This record gives sequence, structure tokens and C-alpha cells, in this order.
Amino acid sequence: MNSSHDSSAELFRHWGLYDRIIMGNHMRHQQMALAVAQAARVLNEPCRVLDLGCGDGQLAAMALQTIPCASWHGVDLSRAALDSAPQLLPSQTTIQFTEGHLTTVTHQLAEQWLQGQSTPPNLLLASYALHHLSQSQLQQTLSDLACVPKPRVFCWIDLYTAENESREDWLKRFHTTALPSWSNLTPAEISEVIAHMQTSDFPVTESRRVELGTQFGFQSHEVLFRDDFYLASLFR
Ligand SMILES: C[S@@+](CC[C@H](N)C(=O)[O-])C[C@H]1O[C@@H](n2cnc3c(N)ncnc32)[C@H](O)[C@@H]1O
Repeated sequence: MNSSHDSSAELFRHWGLYDRIIMGNHMRHQQMALAVAQAARVLNEPCRVLDLGCGDGQLAAMALQTIPCASWHGVDLSRAALDSAPQLLPSQTTIQFTEGHLTTVTHQLAEQWLQGQSTPPNLLLASYALHHLSQSQLQQTLSDLACVPKPRVFCWIDLYTAENESREDWLKRFHTTALPSWSNLTPAEISEVIAHMQTSDFPVTESRRVELGTQFGFQSHEVLFRDDFYLASLFR
């Protein structure tokens, strides 16, 4: 599963920088945690989370503090991120990690769910990870996620571009209006973020997100949080 998009893990080999981005709430992790908790409350049973591109699981840990959580399965390319995860999640939760490409892992899991070989998740979470995929990887992943039997919810949290905005214009807008407030990062770190975005970030518009969700079998779309750059969507 190789593509130029797979260089996306580079920034996350040194988790410290991304951790400071979370600490500064620059990517609205506090609001997104509330959105994930809201998504989990739609289920009338303890959640079983599949967290794609989970990083260190910090978002899930923040979200699931007050929500019954039976299990959490985190998938990520970054060993450094996964190594930090166990300390953050509630102790009563069954925790599993898979180090690997989320498209490949989701496809393998979908085969197991379809054959009844493993209990499927009921809360599908992809937070700031799907924008790293190529269009074909994204479509494969959504098609596999849609195999999960109901009741289930899919919480897609990500960067998004404005309708009719080119990627170049979006990058320029982000660099000039969002990054100047990331004041807890050094100029060298800001340059690293810019380089990462230029090579690895391929967000889609809200309407494309809805179109893809619908195409692959998710029936309704609700916005849980939105600002100029970040969008949390709930699909059922
Ligand atoms: C921006 S971080 C998001 C981490 C966490 N979900 C959050 O919301 O803070 C993106 C994460 O996706 C992971 N990632 C990027 N591409 C991936 C892929 N193809 N398969 C699995 N993980 C991937 C990176 O290693 C990184 O941990």
C-alpha cells in the first residue's frame, strides 16, 4: 500500500511536536473530544471503538472519560504514537493496537467482521487521518467501514477545504490565518508543519465528504463541530 501520501507518518515519528499542537488546542481537540462523546452517546450500549490513525489515543481518551467504553482498537503507522497510548485510555477498557496502514488493516478487519470472526466495532473514529489518504485508499476504507453492521456510528473528524477552493489556496489560507496563532511552536517547527502539509495533507470539501459517505452506504450526515478549517461529521 505505497503512495506518496504514505510520507504522512514522518511528522508523527517525533510525537512531541504534534503533542504540543494538541496542547495548544490548535486543531480544536477539546471541541472534537466533545463531538466524539456526542457520537458515542447515540449508541445505547458501551462503545467498541475502532480508531483509525489514532496517534497516541489522546482524543479518544479525552472523549471517553464519561462514556462507557468496552474496547478500543487503535491503528496507526507510527510506533512512537502507539507506544504512548496505553497510559491515556481508561483502565477498564480492553485495548488493542495495530501498527500498519489504516486502509490495509480496515480491509482485513472487514473480512473478519463479514465472516463473523470478530466482534465489529460500533464507534468508527477517524480523526485527522483520512486526509492523508489517496482518493482510492479513502474510497476503499469507507467501503470497508460501511460493512460494519448497525447500530454503529462513524465519526469523521478532519481538515476540510471550502467549496471551490483549490488545495493551493487552502494551504495559503491556513498558513496566513491559522498558523500565526500557533504561538507555542518555534519558527523551525512551524516550517516543519508547513512542509508536512505541503507533501501530505489532502483534505476534501464538506460536500465531497457527504457525497463519499452516502456513496459507500452511510445514510445520514450531521455536523458535530465546524470552524473555518476543522469539521467533525457524524455518519450513521
Ligand atoms: C494528525 S495525526 C491524528 C492523530 C489523532 N487521531 C488525533 O486526532 O489527534 C495523524 C495520525 O495518522 C497517522 N497516519 C497517517 N497516515 C496513516 C495511514 N495511512 N495509516 C495509519 N495511520 C496513519 C499518523 O501516524 C498520525 O498518528
